[in-house]
Amino acid sequence: MKKNRTVWSNRITKGNSKNFQRIGSSINIDKRLYKEDIFASIVHAKMLIKQKIIPKKDGFKIINGLKKIEREISKKKFKFKEQFEDIHQNIEKRLFQIIGESAGYLHTARSRNDQVVTDFKIWVKDSSQDTIDTINDLIKCILNKAEKNINTVMPGFTHLKNAQPVSFAHYLLAYVEMLNRDKKRFLNNILLIDECPLGSAALAGTSFNIDRKFTAKKLGFKKPTNNSIDSVSDRDFAIDFLSAAATCAMHLSRLAEDFIIFNSEAFSFLEFKDQVLTGSSIMPQKKNPDPAELIRGRTAINYGNLNSMLTIMKGLPISYYKDLQDDKGLVFDSYDTLKDSLMMAIELIKNLNTKKNNMRDMAQKGYTTATDFADFLSMKKNLPFRKGYSISSKLVNYAEKKKIRLDQLSKGEINKFVKEVNINIPKMFDVVNSMNSKTSFGGTSAKNVKRMIAKYKKELK
Ligand code: ARG
Repeated sequence: MKKNRTVWSNRITKGNSKNFQRIGSSINIDKRLYKEDIFASIVHAKMLIKQKIIPKKDGFKIINGLKKIEREISKKKFKFKEQFEDIHQNIEKRLFQIIGESAGYLHTARSRNDQVVTDFKIWVKDSSQDTIDTINDLIKCILNKAEKNINTVMPGFTHLKNAQPVSFAHYLLAYVEMLNRDKKRFLNNILLIDECPLGSAALAGTSFNIDRKFTAKKLGFKKPTNNSIDSVSDRDFAIDFLSAAATCAMHLSRLAEDFIIFNSEAFSFLEFKDQVLTGSSIMPQKKNPDPAELIRGRTAINYGNLNSMLTIMKGLPISYYKDLQDDKGLVFDSYDTLKDSLMMAIELIKNLNTKKNNMRDMAQKGYTTATDFADFLSMKKNLPFRKGYSISSKLVNYAEKKKIRLDQLSKGEINKFVKEVNINIPKMFDVVNSMNSKTSFGGTSAKNVKRMIAKYKKELK
């Protein structure tokens, strides 16, 4: 084959316009698939040899040539050429240079359509596992921080109004739950990807006597795909990856937003070390939590990529169309963006200190233990909860008018609202006591939180 000619040069006799060559080529993006492409090609060649479809001698030359190309690329000694469009043709062209006409046997019984989706599936599978590993690193980091803050009491919020006292560790563990679900989404995708498209060829399958089960197994898939048309059309696995990444990014964005609020002077619950802060070019006093803002902002990129992929697929007639070439850029970008966000979340948590006194002071504001008093009346005075709730709300009205906290009320004052209550007032309205009374499964008591941390740690092993 002539050096700089495309494989289709007999049919497309004029070279492509410079603009189209640049726009139509995907090599700058899909060169990231070189390892997967060479791996799949070697397995394909082995299968062709085993099935006696190609001569052994040429097959071995192909395998050795491919291994040499892999070394060249990993040592950055490979010259990628735009005119050969993508990673598949760049490698095939180089193979001709290295081993000559024997290279012509490699593309027997396959097409770039099944080739690209095979490479891409392998990449998504490995990257899903890598994402799970990074999520685990973040979970470990959260658990370490939680362990040190089991007794750090803060106001839990609803509507951003002080609601009930909770442990900061319990708050952090809520994110462990979200991340555990994220891991399951990526894992589920790994399970769904487990069918190998190679051997579907362009869209119809092939008349060569190929062994798809062999190829599937050697490439780490459970089985070959069932339908050749679906095989080259399917990008569900890319959508699933993008969707899992978007959901995970959303969780990180909520964490980031919480941190930004808690780090504000208005809240002053948390401070970050300089390692994760920036200053201002005009305001000398500033210390800004930029990584949290980047995590929040970049969630848009993860959402956008999912939306783009769904839109590419909508209305696309089945089998292969060039529209599909842009799938890889979206997925690579989402993977990179999410990985960076996960790493920034790790950095933020590592460099975070809780301002425990401020958190406790704030937990005492806004009558956060009024529910505890209602619960007490219902439990100990055998009142219906609604009755206890009503009495407690009147008590709050009274204390608010007097501009005092509930624990500053006297026994006499409380007895005006409900007779013969014998309570230890400071204890009844104490925020730590309130927190530790929430012993129901999944509640915020220190005992529960300790048990949960131990459980999560065990799951990580
Ligand atoms: N670079 C192409 C892609 O990523 C490979 C498949 C090309 N197939 C074709 N029929 N043009 O989608």
